[in-house]
Amino acid sequence: MRNPTMSTIVIPLFLIFLLLLPFASPAPRISLTSHSFLSVEDDSDILISQDKSFACGFYEVGTNAFTFSIWFLNSKNKTVVWTANRDRPVNGHGSRVTMRENGNLVLTDYDDTVIWSTNISSTRDQSQLLDTGNLVVKDKDGKVLWQSFDYPTDTLLPNQVFHKNSSLVSAAAGGLLSSGHYKFYFDIDYVLILIYDTPEFDSIYWPDPDHIVWDDGRSGYNSSRSAVLDDMGKFVSSDNLTIRASDLGPGIRRRLTLDYDGNLSLHSLNESTEMWSISWVALSSACLVHSLCGRNGICVYTPTSHCTCPPGFEVNDPSDWSKGCKRKYDINCHKSHEVKFFELPHTDFWGSDVNGTLSLSFRACRKICRVDRSCEAFGYKKESGKCYPKTALHNGRSHPGVDNNIYIKFPRCVETL
Ligand SMILES: *[C@@H]1O[C@H](CO)[C@@H](O)[C@H](O)[C@H]1NC(C)=O
Ligand SMILES: *[C@@H]1O[C@H](CO)[C@@H](O)[C@H](O)[C@H]1NC(C)=O
Ligand SMILES: *[C@@H]1O[C@H](CO)[C@@H](O)[C@H](O)[C@H]1NC(C)=O
Ligand SMILES: *[C@@H]1O[C@H](CO)[C@@H](O)[C@H](O)[C@H]1NC(C)=O
Ligand SMILES: *[C@@H]1O[C@H](CO)[C@@H](O)[C@H](O)[C@H]1NC(C)=O
Ligand SMILES: *[C@@H]1O[C@H](CO)[C@@H](O)[C@H](O)[C@H]1NC(C)=O
Ligand SMILES: *[C@@H]1O[C@H](CO)[C@@H](O)[C@H](O)[C@H]1NC(C)=O
Ligand SMILES: *[C@@H]1O[C@H](CO)[C@@H](O)[C@H](O)[C@H]1NC(C)=O
Repeated sequence: MRNPTMSTIVIPLFLIFLLLLPFASPAPRISLTSHSFLSVEDDSDILISQDKSFACGFYEVGTNAFTFSIWFLNSKNKTVVWTANRDRPVNGHGSRVTMRENGNLVLTDYDDTVIWSTNISSTRDQSQLLDTGNLVVKDKDGKVLWQSFDYPTDTLLPNQVFHKNSSLVSAAAGGLLSSGHYKFYFDIDYVLILIYDTPEFDSIYWPDPDHIVWDDGRSGYNSSRSAVLDDMGKFVSSDNLTIRASDLGPGIRRRLTLDYDGNLSLHSLNESTEMWSISWVALSSACLVHSLCGRNGICVYTPTSHCTCPPGFEVNDPSDWSKGCKRKYDINCHKSHEVKFFELPHTDFWGSDVNGTLSLSFRACRKICRVDRSCEAFGYKKESGKCYPKTALHNGRSHPGVDNNIYIKFPRCVETL
């Protein structure tokens, strides 16, 4: 005899299954083959690595604005490690990443404009996100034709080779992905540097510009220009730079990121709290980053770092200190040829020196700046008598440990001082 309970159970279960089917989200995919695509509307439409540590797909950067990015799956907030065409987000409707028949992986906006493409041509390819966080396009024989590891944005992952054409570019601000002005790359002398870089002004701030590179154990002899972070947390570069994570050892997920504030740091993921901690930094203090406070601005430590303007100056944009400070002009006074100097002890504005002269008396140094129309200020080191007349005030920093005084030139009639 038939068991009646069986059908009474099976039928409702079957109905429930049918009801749920249209609402089930697609399982994350592990590869994209010809003609298949990811669409921006469905945030579960992503590609994940086999070990489920990385995902790639559309990442929301603003209202109705998305980028095609790769992020860590196991960190509290999606931590993005790579972005395609980071300065050109796409619309939240109709945008797609498509594996085209010609082998190209292509990001298109709502109106089908191509925003980014791997620019390869081959046939029967597929895209895959590897466990290393590397997005690759492979041909049918498994040969890698394109990989995201060759185009880092602001982050380097373990086993991602950094070479002479590579650079990391910081994000423009915290929480943004678009490009900022800090850069990390191999300079022409084969040494890895950190630089503030805009068309108007650039300035290297690491390795310490007051040292010669050898003082920091760096070497310009090896022209191979390559560096890599290994699975143990050790970063070794051809310029003899070696970085060791404070938690050196296997089994920890790490990333080397040039943060929006110009700090290059190694971050380690705590998989139970899903939080990042810093396991190495290039600069121990924010004020060592150049241009943080803009032209004429001064970075001070009290005890955390912040920006101020020198006396006689005012901030250009209080919401963005990188725009610096301007002179508070006294209209009646600007024609005066008589000048005076205002002393800022333990302060330096690194760079923009006319020249550097040793063993000069303070009065002789002051005279050089007084008679030179282009001189805005001078730096003077009392111990060595070093004199630095300056044509502009950049990279300002004030700290008891700075063995340099700055003397800013003003028309004598300026009364606010
Ligand atoms: C995650 O993002 C939220 C909202 O943006 C923010 O408040 C929080 O501090 C972030 N958490 C971490 C660990 O970054
Ligand atoms: C593809 O080619 C376009 C136009 O030549 C270029 O702007 C873009 O950067 C290239 N994309 C990649 C990933 O190299
Ligand atoms: C670096 O760029 C040059 C010119 O763009 C190219 O010929 C060379 O293959 C690149 N090197 C590497 C290691 O990608
Ligand atoms: C590389 O660094 C090590 C230790 O930091 C130092 O002993 C060695 O002389 C350096 N090599 C070169 C070529 O500068
Ligand atoms: C130059 O650097 C590369 C990469 O770090 C290394 O493999 C090579 O041995 C170095 N060459 C010399 C002469 O030190
Ligand atoms: C992760 O964080 C928890 C809580 O703060 C801590 O107890 C644990 O030791 C951390 N794990 C590692 C590997 O640092
Ligand atoms: C770099 O990171 C260290 C450690 O978190 C911090 O003390 C320092 O202020 C940071 N520097 C910048 C430029 O943010
Ligand atoms: C530095 O520049 C000043 C002003 O132009 C000039 O008088 C002085 O001779 C220069 N010193 C050296 C060492 O070139």
